[in-house]
Amino acid sequence: MMNDMVIGANLGQGGAKDSFTTALGLGTGPVPVDSYISPEFFELERTRVFGRAWLYVGRTDQLPDADSFFVKKIEVCKASVLVMRNAAGKVQAFHNVCSHRGNLVVTEQSGNSKLHRCAYHGWAYGSDGSLAGVPDQKNFFQLNKKECGLTPIATDVWEGWIFINLQREPEISLKEFLGPYAESYAGVPYGEGHETLVIEARFKANWKLIMDAFSESYHVPAIHPATLAPGFSHPVHNKYARPLSGNTFGLHSAWSAYGNPEYAPPPNSEVERLACKVDTGGLLGSDVNDEVLRLRAHPAINPTKETCWSADVTAIFPNFNIDYSTGGYWTHEFWPISRNETHWILTIRIPKANSVRRRLQLEHYAARWCEIVLEDVTNCESIQKGLESGAKDVMYLQDGEFMIRHQQEILRKWVNAQTVAEAMK
Ligand code: FES
Ligand SMILES: [Fe+2]
Repeated sequence: MMNDMVIGANLGQGGAKDSFTTALGLGTGPVPVDSYISPEFFELERTRVFGRAWLYVGRTDQLPDADSFFVKKIEVCKASVLVMRNAAGKVQAFHNVCSHRGNLVVTEQSGNSKLHRCAYHGWAYGSDGSLAGVPDQKNFFQLNKKECGLTPIATDVWEGWIFINLQREPEISLKEFLGPYAESYAGVPYGEGHETLVIEARFKANWKLIMDAFSESYHVPAIHPATLAPGFSHPVHNKYARPLSGNTFGLHSAWSAYGNPEYAPPPNSEVERLACKVDTGGLLGSDVNDEVLRLRAHPAINPTKETCWSADVTAIFPNFNIDYSTGGYWTHEFWPISRNETHWILTIRIPKANSVRRRLQLEHYAARWCEIVLEDVTNCESIQKGLESGAKDVMYLQDGEFMIRHQQEILRKWVNAQTVAEAMK
């Protein structure tokens, strides 16, 4: 068992941890709520944020072989994006729009194909986006097939995460956009070949309300009393699940969540008792193995190396979270559909099981997460209703909610800036 010093360490004992918000140079005043409800603000988010930022669309392991592809709908930008790996292995995104008369070419969500044929008149495209075939070509006029391939979209890959930029000529590279985040998190062992569990939902709420639900742990005692609170807070040392550390990386941010080292599954939770090995720090269902040890040793993960650590939450501007724990890692995508509608995609990536006990542990981990995230999103639609009533002009954020404040500050900069260079200042 940990002593009190360690359990309570850094939770308000001087230094930056007295206030992440002020240490990170963020404001401390009330924050306007117009960004959640204003149609004008949403239109600017559409064009100036989603139209100009690098956006996460998928992971390279979704394109395992030459000619693998997947389609990503980006409703906020009215785009259907076809992401393909060509014969040479290169990953490139294209607008999924036929050069003949504009039909959407690929209708499957994912697969493997050397040729994609448009259903309207049969124009066919290769996995490198080139126009490979035109039925009755001789009856066209001055048709230069070389100029009639699919329209490429700026694409780049960082650590296996595929990003696109919908500007015809992006004003900024992915490297500049990710900036210090990419430097800090380079080399994190993501582990290919994980099992993935995807949970998707649509909400009648602004996209940032869903994102905010996963941006702080202040809510843990109130909305997760039976599921998360016993493991992620402490009745004496950390009653309100205060984060262990908080950081910003230019446009992006991160915090580390507390884990109660005294937590043990209750006697009647027989499956959890079989599944979990709390003495290894596996609050989130982990055994110690090489991958877990490498993850824990990485300087960006639990950067203050607290012993009472459970998970890290990181937010990549504007709408993508990568979160880490010893049981695996998971991502959130928060895609706006309209001002008050959101498509949320949670992908939980879990290492492959190598024993029956491990399998049980991972199944328990996944089931527990489903339960928790459903609790997380419970209030979002009701907040949208509350804000749309016009009763409140501002919200009050406490220190543990600094990630929301940071996101709001960066978002406002991008919405107001004429150029990306101005937004990045
Ligand atoms: S619109 Fe695609 S072949 Fe005609
Ligand atoms: Fe939560």
